[in-house]
Amino acid sequence: MALERTLSIIKPDAVERHLIGQILARFEQSGFRIAAIKMLHLTKPQAEGFYAEHQGKPFFDGLVEYMTSAPVVVSVLAKENAVKDYRTLIGATDPAQAAEGTIRKDFAESRQRNSVHGSDSVESAVREIAYFFVDTEICGR
Ligand code: TYD
Ligand code: MG
Repeated sequence: MALERTLSIIKPDAVERHLIGQILARFEQSGFRIAAIKMLHLTKPQAEGFYAEHQGKPFFDGLVEYMTSAPVVVSVLAKENAVKDYRTLIGATDPAQAAEGTIRKDFAESRQRNSVHGSDSVESAVREIAYFFVDTEICGR
């Protein structure tokens, strides 16, 4: 298996409920190395650009409003098979469908307010990491 990077976002609902520390601990306990991290309050254009693939869908406007409603914590996580393993760690988009022990099962409030983001493929991860970080901000190999 190849060493990979994936992009994580701890979303506004989790930041507002003071869950940053607990969620970062889950990442580290699950074998991910935090290679870069920053907190920021997304602007509307930033959120729209990040979720451009969903433009035109019925949930898009609400998603952008929610993602700009409070700060987020964006990080680059490194591990063998990081993209797929991180999606397994966070669980299904809708917490009602998420497996026991996943971050979304344990913390998410709804399909929209689902606490965390994770890249869905290696190609998405490359694009999403570059959306938030320059190479010199990413530590280690
Ligand atoms: P999506 O990429 O399908 O999910 P994931 O985050 O698991 O990759 O959708 C992006 C986000 O859009 C999702 O995390 C929450 C929001 N969303 C809704 O609010 N309603 C929906 O019906 C869907 C599918 C997504
Ligand atoms: Mg997605």
